[in-house]
Amino acid sequence: MNIPNPIRWGILACGKIAEKFADDLVAHVPDAVVYAVASRELSKAQTFGQKYNATKAFGSYQELADCAEVDVIYIASPHAQHHENTLMCLNAGKAVLCEKAFAINTTMVQEMIAKSKEKNVFLMEAIWTRFHPSIAKTLEIIQSGDIGHIIHLAADFGFKADYDENSRLFNPALTGGSLYDIGIYPLFISKLILGNPKEIKAVASMTPSGVDMNTSMALNYESGATASLFSTFATKTDTTCTIYGTKGKIYLHERFHETKGLTLEIYGQEPQVFTTERLGWGYSYEAQEVQRCLKLGKTESDKLPLQFSLELMELLCEIREQIGLVYPQEV
Ligand SMILES: NC(=O)c1ccc[n+]([C@@H]2O[C@H](COP(=O)([O-])OP(=O)(O)OC[C@H]3O[C@@H](n4cnc5c(N)ncnc54)[C@H](OP(=O)(O)O)[C@@H]3O)[C@@H](O)[C@H]2O)c1
Repeated sequence: MNIPNPIRWGILACGKIAEKFADDLVAHVPDAVVYAVASRELSKAQTFGQKYNATKAFGSYQELADCAEVDVIYIASPHAQHHENTLMCLNAGKAVLCEKAFAINTTMVQEMIAKSKEKNVFLMEAIWTRFHPSIAKTLEIIQSGDIGHIIHLAADFGFKADYDENSRLFNPALTGGSLYDIGIYPLFISKLILGNPKEIKAVASMTPSGVDMNTSMALNYESGATASLFSTFATKTDTTCTIYGTKGKIYLHERFHETKGLTLEIYGQEPQVFTTERLGWGYSYEAQEVQRCLKLGKTESDKLPLQFSLELMELLCEIREQIGLVYPQEV
């Protein structure tokens, strides 16, 4: 793939997160440009495109995938559409950064990975947190041994969402539920730090529309560590992450998935607070990782490999099975 400078991004779906991503791309990624945008409605794409000086605006996602000048497409549709949208873009030879949750189930993720390999085209799940300086700092502290062996990780993510069974958050057809929308972050950080659990136990309370409102997860690892994770749409929670070791603990401040700081407490010493950079909304770091990979000719990121995304989806699916959450696309 011939990589121009600046790299020309396409934005697929002009919703809330697409806007934040585009804000950061324009403000904080110097060698990037929003070249084209696509919405199911042309006028929406035109309005969105004007805001970012996009050269082209399309009234269908297919036109964006087929646009010869676009190098990479950011997919910002609801989870239920990720599989179809990703396959379409990869088939057109476009590199893809696709929002989380990567798809509905492991079969779909396997198909997306297989397509990326078949076409030899870059693919990555947009777990932006992975690329934040706060995460690099957390990993550095853990690797230094300062907190000793990890005993337990506790993480939560909750906000109060007004119940609307037609909304993306509560509609099963749009893969609603707190687990896929925000529970994925506690699950992500526990997997990043502790690996794959040997055992998971999950319970949930469901909404009238049949998706999870609250999901509580207990995980157990070969190392002897455990984790307790929680997500909810019913109330605002601390949305922090604490990693307890034998010698100390790391506390990622609210909201941990986009935090600007963390506290290291080595037991018996004064806690140390570290401020970590987060430019803009925090989406430029994942975009820069995509661009770094494209320039190196890589088809996946070694910081967030496709195998990681597949295993994360396996965990989501195991939890779904335990809480009895079935999406209509799978029935
Ligand atoms: N990384 C993060 O921090 C973060 C934060 C929030 C959300 N997300 C993820 O980003 C994705 C989109 O979330 P969002 O909050 O931006 O949602 P949103 O505001 O509802 O936007 C989603 C967009 O998807 C398009 N779409 C395609 N098919 C649709 C359908 N059947 N129903 C509704 N919309 C459809 C629409 O764009 P058009 O009308 O333009 O086609 C819509 O505006 C989700 O997968 C979510 O998990 C990530």
